[in-house]
Amino acid sequence: MDVALEKRQVQRAYELYAPVYDFIFDWIFAPGRTAAVKQLALQRSDSVLEVGIGTGLNLPLYPATCQLTGIDLSQEMLDKAVERVQTLAMPNVTLKVMDATSLDFGDNEFDKAVATYTISAVPDPVAVLNEMRRVVKPDGIIVILNHFRSERRLTGWVEDLLAPVCTRLGWKSNLPLAPLLEQVGLVPESITQVNMFKGWRLVKCINRD
Ligand SMILES: C[S@@+](CC[C@H](N)C(=O)[O-])C[C@H]1O[C@@H](n2cnc3c(N)ncnc32)[C@H](O)[C@@H]1O
Repeated sequence: MDVALEKRQVQRAYELYAPVYDFIFDWIFAPGRTAAVKQLALQRSDSVLEVGIGTGLNLPLYPATCQLTGIDLSQEMLDKAVERVQTLAMPNVTLKVMDATSLDFGDNEFDKAVATYTISAVPDPVAVLNEMRRVVKPDGIIVILNHFRSERRLTGWVEDLLAPVCTRLGWKSNLPLAPLLEQVGLVPESITQVNMFKGWRLVKCINRD
């Protein structure tokens, strides 16, 4: 069953979630966050794009030596990230309201890009990954952390069943990983299962032609 997410619906959802987001999404999803930033293998002065940075829960994980740009569609989520940048005193971070389906950056502008818990919350994941590929240098690292539709029959079926409700809440419960990567021409270097019940997948790709 394919249920479409609308951009306005996502904006409305995250306007509501912004004040309470950190209470729900901080500790439960923390192991995946640490693992995702580790997969970026950040080197001194790397330029990194975080797509759908939200309230900036990953910010404390980045070294002060990298140049981080975070973008998000939701002003309300980004306002929280701005507060976090100020609290953590991170002059190496730039935050912008932007739609990930049409990034306002040039080709090959970043060494690396990451999206944590975002790719199933965007209306057009293919367009977002294509944009991530465009702005990351050839052979740069792209890391995606997300829940994807299970390949187990029963779990996948339950996720399909829940899809209409989840879509109303602002994310897709049944986004399949393999066809998504195939459509954008990304071949995973590694896929690791993380978080509670190993229910989320951490996908590391190299931006090859
Ligand atoms: C579940 S939150 C994840 C936030 C953050 N990455 C984290 O790890 O906590 C999904 C985020 O994706 C953002 N988002 C959804 N569609 C987007 C789009 N087209 N462009 C940019 N951000 C988008 C939402 O506003 C929200 O902040």
